[in-house]
Order: sequence, then C-alpha cells, then structure tokens
Amino acid sequence: MTTEPHLKAHVLVVDDDDGYRSMLERILIRAGYSVTTACDGLEGMKAVNSEQLDLVLVDVNLPGINGIEVVRQIQEIDNTLPCIVITGQGSAEYSLEALKAGAHWYLDKHFEQGNPDPIRRLVEQAVEHKRLKVENRLLHTQLRSQYGFGNIVGNSPALQESLDIVRKVADSDSTCLVTGESGTGKELFARALHYNSQRADRMLVTVNCGAIPEELLESELFGHVKGAFTNASSHREGRFSVANGGTIFLDEIGDMSLNLQVKLLRVLQERSFEPVGSSKTIAVDVRVIAATNQDLPTAIADGRFREDLYYRLNVIPIEVPPLRERAGDVELLVDFFIEKLNKNKNKKVQGIDSEALNLLKDYGWPGNVRELENTLERMVVLRSEGELDIGDLPRQLRTAPLASAPTAPSLPSSGVSFNELVDLFETDLISQALDKTSWNKNKAAKMLGLNRTTLLEKIKKKKLSSPDTDD
Ligand SMILES: Nc1ncnc2c1ncn2[C@@H]1O[C@H](COP(=O)(O)OP(=O)(O)O)[C@@H](O)[C@H]1O
Ligand SMILES: [Mg+2]
Repeated sequence: MTTEPHLKAHVLVVDDDDGYRSMLERILIRAGYSVTTACDGLEGMKAVNSEQLDLVLVDVNLPGINGIEVVRQIQEIDNTLPCIVITGQGSAEYSLEALKAGAHWYLDKHFEQGNPDPIRRLVEQAVEHKRLKVENRLLHTQLRSQYGFGNIVGNSPALQESLDIVRKVADSDSTCLVTGESGTGKELFARALHYNSQRADRMLVTVNCGAIPEELLESELFGHVKGAFTNASSHREGRFSVANGGTIFLDEIGDMSLNLQVKLLRVLQERSFEPVGSSKTIAVDVRVIAATNQDLPTAIADGRFREDLYYRLNVIPIEVPPLRERAGDVELLVDFFIEKLNKNKNKKVQGIDSEALNLLKDYGWPGNVRELENTLERMVVLRSEGELDIGDLPRQLRTAPLASAPTAPSLPSSGVSFNELVDLFETDLISQALDKTSWNKNKAAKMLGLNRTTLLEKIKKKKLSSPDTDD
C-alpha cells in the first residue's frame, strides 16, 4: 500500500556538519516532510520547545550538549516524540547509550551514505510509531473518562451506596465480588474499579466464564503449552498472564465448573498457576474482580459453587441494585441515553414527554438498565427527531406490568459493545502497522510496542492475512 500519512509530518534535523545536514534535509523534503534544521543542541532544544514536531534526527557528536543529552532532554519534555540518533565512525557504544536515553533508533552516517532508502524507511517508521503512541494514549484517556464515575448514572440512595464502596476500594488490590441481576451495570462497576485504580494503565482483561465452553475455559484462563491437547498446535498465553500487572474481570463466575473453581481458588491463594500441559508455575500480580447474577449462597447449598472460593472472592461484596428498586434513576438514565444515542446515531430526538416517561418509570425492567438502554435505542432510531411520546413506546410498555415483574435471564445487548469497538480499533492499528512494514512482523511488533508472540496471536485471532497470500 502506498499511502502518504507522513505528508505533513515535521522533522527536526540537528547536525553541525553542514553537508550531511543539508543532505538529510533534501532527502526528507523530497519524501514529503517539512523540515527544520539546527546546528547544535541548544538551537535544537529551542525548536523542540517552540515547534510542533513529529520526529527529531540528531547527531551524536555535537558541540555543546551532545546528541544523547538532547535525546534525554527531549524525552523528559515529551516521550512521544521519537528521536533517531545519527552515529559516526566507530560509535557502536553510542548507539546503545542513545537507546538507553530513549532514542527510537540510530542511524550510521557512513553505512547509509549514498542510499536514501534506509533513512526514508526509518523516518517513516518512527513517525508512524509516534502516531500510534499518541493514538494509544488518547484511547487510554478516553477509556478512563468513559469509565469514570461520571458515566455511572443515578442518584438513588441504593445505587450511591454501592458506588461509595467502589470509590473506597477502587484503589486497593482487594478482590471484589459484584453481584446483581443481569443488565444492572456490573461490568460498568468492574470497569470503574479498574480505571480508578493504580492499575489503570495496565490491562483490564474480561473473561465471560459463562460464554466459554468448560473444556476451553481452563486454557483460556491459564494458557497452554504446545501439544497440551489435540488442538494445541502452539503455545498460548492465558488471560491471567495477559492481565499481569492489571486486573482480570471474571464475569458470570457462577457458571464456572467445580473443577475450574478449584484451580481458580489456588490462583487466589497463591497468586500462581500452571498452564495446561505444563509443570512450570507462573507467578502473577493480578487484581481479581468477579461478577455474577446468581445467588452464590444458594449455589453453595446446591453444591454448584465452592464455599471456600466464595469467601476468597467475596472480600469486598458490591451489590448493584435492580432498576425497579431505584425507579428514581429512570429519568436520569433516559436523559443520559437519549443524549448518547443522539450523538452515536446522529439523531435529533428532543427528550420525552411526561406521559411516556411515567410509563417508563412504572415499568418493572426485568432486564434492568440494559433493557432500558435497548428500548430507548429502538425508540430513538425509529423516531429520529422531535419529542418521544407514548406512541414510540414498545407495546409491552404501553400496557406496563407492575414494577415487580419476574427477572428475565440476560437479554442480548444490541449494537456494538464497547469491547467490540476497542477490538475494532486495535485491529485497525495492527493492520496499519502490517501494511506499513509490508507484513514484516518483527518491525510491526516494534512499531506497535508489542512483543512478537503477542502480535502473532492477535493476527491469528483477528484472522488478518497479508494481501500477498491467498488465505
Ligand atoms: N448506572 C448506569 N449508568 C449508565 N449506564 C448504565 C448504568 N448501568 C448500566 N448501564 C449500561 O447498561 C448496559 C448493561 O450494563 P452491564 O454493566 O453490561 O450490566 P451487567 O454486567 O450487570 O449485565 C451497558 O450498556 C451499561 O453501559
Ligand atoms: Mg455483564
């Protein structure tokens, strides 16, 4: 693919050697970059502080502050700004030092002379790397604000009581058990716990224990070695390893088999586990949040859930109340969802009239907030604009049952979930990196800041394939 995303990328070249500096400038301008030049470190730092840069090429040997020091200072100011250090004769030891100081890469002046291709490729890759890094950071900020407390809507005392617990324990490593009916917001609570903890910069890994067949769940959680079972054609990292340093969210924990419950108990007790087919013990530092819509004490009485595991998980119990017990939140939620849906679906609905709102408040919401959100989505999409009224309500709501309807099993959520969105975003970044590097997986992994194995796994999982191959 020949796109030119770097068309306006801005490169600073710092070199005291006039000839080499102008040669670099020429190569870069011809490749479509805009270029600023400086002939020593001081002048270079001035440009760094006053201009919007995407990349710095800096010579190691400079009068005054040397190139390595320039890199160090730049990284302190903005560690998303990549620096490529230009080394001269016999300066292999400088290249290592440069990388330690935070340089993206180094370029050997003599080796590269006469051939602009390696320079162009390196520059292009570094600029792309920066773009991904900035995007990644943006995504993270978005995730944080998405899952701050501000996005958990509701003023009812019942909800606020649970949120108070979340606020208090978010920043601890305590295991939490979030309980509540389907659609009440358990996953939202789990995210708030993670994104308001010191682990927020690390992974939040979600495993839906109810959705994965029992025989796969163990290797999903703990990974497996090659040959561990018939289809284990390669080593696979488990979700616990992926979550190392971060949080694992074990959703629908009540659906886990007794056999796996034993293994999970051990992880909670010893913070270590063995991948399927391996005798090597792996230690992990993972915060565990579990959720269930089942009544675990009943499951214990029925012999479906281990009591010892229950106590290990239930260190901090967090109950999310059903929506019918906080009918006062319905109005706030309705406003919140209408605004969100208008934005996401590009609609211009202007609220809801009081008659229709009252019916929404009176309804029992067996599917809780998820059902309310799905109901509004249907209404907003069909209506597009104006004020929602009774005619927009689905039939079962126009003849509302009492607010004590039996609880329904989990309703399928409609549209694209946030996890799916993140997944799409990730697929997009990976495809771009692979395109950019002509499917050189080592380079693509470096560009993405992933290790190669992780990248290969993601390529497989996402079923990405090179345009040059048939499969
Ligand atoms: N208090 C709330 N404020 C805003 N949105 C909510 C709230 N509770 C739930 N939701 C939304 O309702 C849907 C279902 O929530 P989720 O956390 O998946 O429920 P659960 O895991 O308990 O089944 C999600 O789209 C979630 O964002
Ligand atoms: Mg859920």
